[in-house]
Amino acid sequence: MENVLSSIRRERPRRIVVFTGAGISAESGIPTFRGSEGLWKNFRAEDLATPEAFHRDPELVWEWYEWRRGLIRAAQPNAAHMAIARLERELARKGDALVVTQNVDGLHARAGSRNLIELHGNIFRARCTSEQTTRELAHPAESMPPRCGCGSLLRPDVVWFGEMLPAGAMERAAAAVAGCDLLLVVGTSGLVYPAAGLVSSARRMSIEVNPQKTPLSASCTHALPGYATTIIPPITETILEGALR
Ligand code: OAD
Repeated sequence: MENVLSSIRRERPRRIVVFTGAGISAESGIPTFRGSEGLWKNFRAEDLATPEAFHRDPELVWEWYEWRRGLIRAAQPNAAHMAIARLERELARKGDALVVTQNVDGLHARAGSRNLIELHGNIFRARCTSEQTTRELAHPAESMPPRCGCGSLLRPDVVWFGEMLPAGAMERAAAAVAGCDLLLVVGTSGLVYPAAGLVSSARRMSIEVNPQKTPLSASCTHALPGYATTIIPPITETILEGALR
């Protein structure tokens, strides 16, 4: 850890991209997807997170999303989300911090991050399956499965397996990663593409924060084994010390 903080002091990075996955929200009590306690241990992705599953049984898919929406609503952003939001705020005109997240939980925004790309959508938004219009759906749905005013089914405005990412999101994210001084890769297994491919665009320093090794560890300049809430605050603190000096 100390040698990584020394590198940050030496390099004084000012343009930061933070790429996050489910692990950053684990300490807020939100289950990750993979691993012994992960959602994909108890549920089959193909029954719940594909367009085919929704076509087959929209009510089942919505019930699963309502359960997850309830867990997330009751959760709070943790020290890692907060430190990243503070980094963006305090860098202000001295640099910039962009968050690129695979998470649909909205916790980065709730912590205060504004410069944010949600690659996989947001679980508190719904989309009309005919008109493709989106709307906020923050509270539990009043009828199941929820419908648009036009009578068609609404679906969660998230990316399911086999679907494209929101138009332009990957391009914007990849350009930011290619131009940044420091990429932080936090709490992702690095198994889901195209998102995981972003890490290969980094040109300068990259730091992975994850209690486990991942397929991305070797491509990062440093891989710090540990939890996001322990490791991210001293990193963002050290970035700010250098950038604001
Ligand atoms: P995963 O569940 O695949 O991976 C979570 C990662 O977080 C693992 O590598 C853990 O070791 C790590 N982790 C756990 N606790 C942590 C902590 N406290 N601090 C830091 N790291 C921790 O989640 P993702 O990589 O986000 O896709 O999964 C990618 C995509 O697969 C998700 O966006 C979702 C899923 O299917 C869609 O919904 C399209």
